[in-house]
Amino acid sequence: MKINNTSINKKNVDEVVTLYGWVNKKRDLGGLIFIDLRDRSGLIQLVVNPDSKVYEVASTLKNEYVIKVSGKVVLRKEANKNLKTGEVEVEVQKLEILNKSAELPFDLNNMTALEDTRLKYRYLDLRREELKNNLFIKHKIMQSARKYLNYLEFMEIETPILCKSTPEGARDYLVPSRVNKGCFYALPQSPQLFKQILMMSGMEKYYQIARCFRDEDLRADRQPEFTQIDMETSFMSEDEIMSITEGLLYNVFKEVKDIEIKLPIDRMTYDEAINLYGSDKPDLRFENPIFDITDNFIDSDFSLFKTIINDGGIINALVFNVADKYSRKDIDKLTDYVKTYGAKALAFLKYNDEFTGSIAKFITPEIGKALKEKLNLKNNDLILIIAGNKKMVKTSLGALRCKIARDLDLIDKNKYALTWVTDFPMFEYSEEEGRYISCHHPFTLPKDVNSLCDKENAKAYAYDIVINGYEAGGGSLRIYNPDDQEKVLSELGFSKKEAEAKFGFLLNALNYGCPPHGGLAIGLERLTMILCGTENIRDVIAFPKTTSASCLMTEAPSEVTEKQLEELHIKLND
Ligand code: AMO
Repeated sequence: MKINNTSINKKNVDEVVTLYGWVNKKRDLGGLIFIDLRDRSGLIQLVVNPDSKVYEVASTLKNEYVIKVSGKVVLRKEANKNLKTGEVEVEVQKLEILNKSAELPFDLNNMTALEDTRLKYRYLDLRREELKNNLFIKHKIMQSARKYLNYLEFMEIETPILCKSTPEGARDYLVPSRVNKGCFYALPQSPQLFKQILMMSGMEKYYQIARCFRDEDLRADRQPEFTQIDMETSFMSEDEIMSITEGLLYNVFKEVKDIEIKLPIDRMTYDEAINLYGSDKPDLRFENPIFDITDNFIDSDFSLFKTIINDGGIINALVFNVADKYSRKDIDKLTDYVKTYGAKALAFLKYNDEFTGSIAKFITPEIGKALKEKLNLKNNDLILIIAGNKKMVKTSLGALRCKIARDLDLIDKNKYALTWVTDFPMFEYSEEEGRYISCHHPFTLPKDVNSLCDKENAKAYAYDIVINGYEAGGGSLRIYNPDDQEKVLSELGFSKKEAEAKFGFLLNALNYGCPPHGGLAIGLERLTMILCGTENIRDVIAFPKTTSASCLMTEAPSEVTEKQLEELHIKLND
């Protein structure tokens, strides 16, 4: 069997070994030829002497040729500490070119190529150490999760990929049926309903490393197809499900990064997360919470703030100890930034024993003293203030908090900040649809089924695990009583008939002895991104899609033939 390059070390000195791999780099030093031979495990240096029989062949080698060599392992005069095999090299005695390579479209050792070019030639891009390592980390996460869940007697069960289209959630990917004219399957957005049904079938503890498909606008942490470490359990409380998840994450961090995360993981409610950090996925690698300073301006002479307060609005502030780093011009740029979140303006104060800044003239000694205490002000503090309706104020300041931390490099990249966010709302208002939709999904157990009509305040047994500002996973307890499920669907605007047509199978199954159940799904790519330290989800997927959901390597999606369309009973509009 082929041996790994990196398994060769001092112990093999004087042995003759046979190695296979790619020419990573060749250096011709006008006499000796040095070749870095690369295989999946890494690099080893080969050396060809001028009097060697294979010298001539060696001098024709180019980058990315595939070769087989045999030779003697010798100690290097000077070890290369950057290389695992840096103490040794192989003196080539036999050399065979197994395959040549055309000239590469980009240099694998000097990554300046555009991402589009790299995606088109993904097979070459994946030869790079960084991407290979990312895939390896993903592999280790999957292995670790499987090992842990198997140990806890979870059963790995597959669920269908060709499913029924159900409303709610993101847009479905549809697959036309050839044999059922005019009918479509949907690709699963997640195995949600199947895993619930598996609980109704008595499986008790299910997991699956499940492929999910969502036709939604893509972002740096979103792909149209992605993977979940998906779990569902029966007869377990929210705390038990969270604790199983914590164990899984503990093992993954330990096995993949040798990092021991602190258990139990801290918790905050959704309301706390929004109030303090303006986000349901707060990045806690840095502090700088949002302060509510509405009360401090109730009696002020600042009529604009007073009007906002009288109209039910709030005034909130962020404090960063960076006043010297922000000129008026810089603050104008921050103002433009928060305007994209709906803020009309960004007021600011700088504190250096006294207040200066855009609203300094309204800061009376009393207001100043109160602010100093509430915000725990120190010299050089910059106070950024937004006033208006709660949702806008929190969202804008939450985004601004992260922007400033990023811009000023305040985030410790070696830190992992994990938190649970619990008690999510049952519903959220969708501006796009002009109605309330489920915050998690329509099968989430409400805290109080009798107060569902208070849509703004109804809360759910739903929890997210947040790591470094990413929603790494989410789950909930599920409704297990058919009447409650119907009530929730009716609050979401489904008539009995519609509910029956869309979710009849689930509603029926609920009638035959459904256990209390709940679960959670971790976004495998998100977790991998966090452990690889990349902000680009494409870096952790072997064959990712672009932001316009296409694969530049295979050129999917692509047109199909008239015949294929005909068989599927599909006619395209011009
Ligand atoms: P949810 O929709 O919150 O829950 O998804 C769970 C986790 O999957 C990841 N994720 C994504 N990752 C990459 N690209 C995407 N487009 C994408 N969408 C989601 C996130 C997210 O936290 N069935 C429920 C889970 C449950 O209730 O058990 C579900 O899918 O990390």
